Amino acid sequence: MATVLVTGGAGYIGSHTCVVLLEAGFEVVVVDSLVNAHRESLVRVEALTGKSLLAFHEADVRDREALRRIFATHPIAAVIHFAGLKAVGESVEQPLRYYDYNVGGSVALTEVMAEHGVRQIVFSSSATVYGDPASVPINEQFPVGATNPYGRSKLMVEHILGDLVCADPRWNAVVLRYFNPVGAHPSGRIGEDPAGIPNNLMPYVAQVAIGRRPFLQVFGDDYPTPDGTGVRDYIHVMDLAEGHLRALECLPALAGLNTVNLGTGRGYSVLEAVRAFEAASAREVPFRVVGRRPGDIAECWADPAHAAALLGWRARRDLAEMCADAWRWQHANPNGYLPATP
Ligand code: NAD
Ligand code: WQD
Repeated sequence: MATVLVTGGAGYIGSHTCVVLLEAGFEVVVVDSLVNAHRESLVRVEALTGKSLLAFHEADVRDREALRRIFATHPIAAVIHFAGLKAVGESVEQPLRYYDYNVGGSVALTEVMAEHGVRQIVFSSSATVYGDPASVPINEQFPVGATNPYGRSKLMVEHILGDLVCADPRWNAVVLRYFNPVGAHPSGRIGEDPAGIPNNLMPYVAQVAIGRRPFLQVFGDDYPTPDGTGVRDYIHVMDLAEGHLRALECLPALAGLNTVNLGTGRGYSVLEAVRAFEAASAREVPFRVVGRRPGDIAECWADPAHAAALLGWRARRDLAEMCADAWRWQHANPNGYLPATP
């Protein structure tokens, strides 16, 4: 079976994708610097699947020499490129670090790939590249225009991959624009483990439900949405992982660069998400409405038709399942991958 290199494979989406790839019979090599992950996630991936990774390399994708050694060691056929930094607020404070990791890392990776004759790549982009969309649902033809360094770094890499396929038609790239990934593997063994205070809604809600934080701040209830709170397209991380498997399977038959939304096509408000989490966890999630968070938009959800047509993929799991799985992970691992404090 083909060997795939997963950059950032110890992270949240990467670890779930490794499970799906191993179960589908791929040989999986992971490279991850562990800047935002724990080695333990991959130990659990192996335990969960009963299969071993072909290799784990603790290395930085900006390190060309380290990448060269990896490509020289393994018969890599394709790359799924998750490795990068993802906190929007942090990217505003540390723009050069974000461009270095996200853009520099992608340039180094694609350079070394080409040196070794590997020209098949699936790249993690984000719905954030649509900025504040004129309407919903959002399809891939919508104008792009990111509003922060993180989003711009994703757009830059999209353009770089577009330039690469133009320059050399042997390149094949699928750009996946994720909407809002949430949930966990149904075993509760792997999940999202944010360092410090979570930036995103679902992990924050989960930490309130488990009692690690007293209440949720709801960022604004005066948006032009049915209940006034922000509406997003939450997508189960296992659906997302399966989307990567489909992209990888389709990649050799696709031409050039293909850009695909991965979302469910349905939006939920902050208050709907909170209620769904309360139902799944049988815990209360106290909240206080505060002012809007700078940079937030009112609503954002995907038109997922292109993913269905091109990849034969659609999201199958609903919000109740996302919350139930996120809760199972949070409940069994109150401190994430770190051991529980006595
Ligand atoms: P994550 O932080 O859990 O995973 C990223 C992984 O990459 C981590 O394991 C980290 O240690 C590793 N990494 C970072 N920089 C590296 C480098 N230079 N060299 C090697 N490893 C490095 O994040 P995630 O949520 O799993 O996101 C994966 C990808 O998907 C990222 O590119 C992110 O921007 C993108 N994305 C995430 C979301 C989201 O909400 N989670 C939404 C859209 C897009
Ligand atoms: C969802 C909703 C908030 C936290 C971000 C990135 C995006 C992508 C996904 C990487 C919004 C509200 C949140 C809280 C709240 N990541 N909220 N209280 O902002 O849609 O997208 O993650 O690519 O680039 O911007 O996700 O989970 O932060 O927010 O009320 O404590 O929850 O205002 O309406 P967002 P989110």
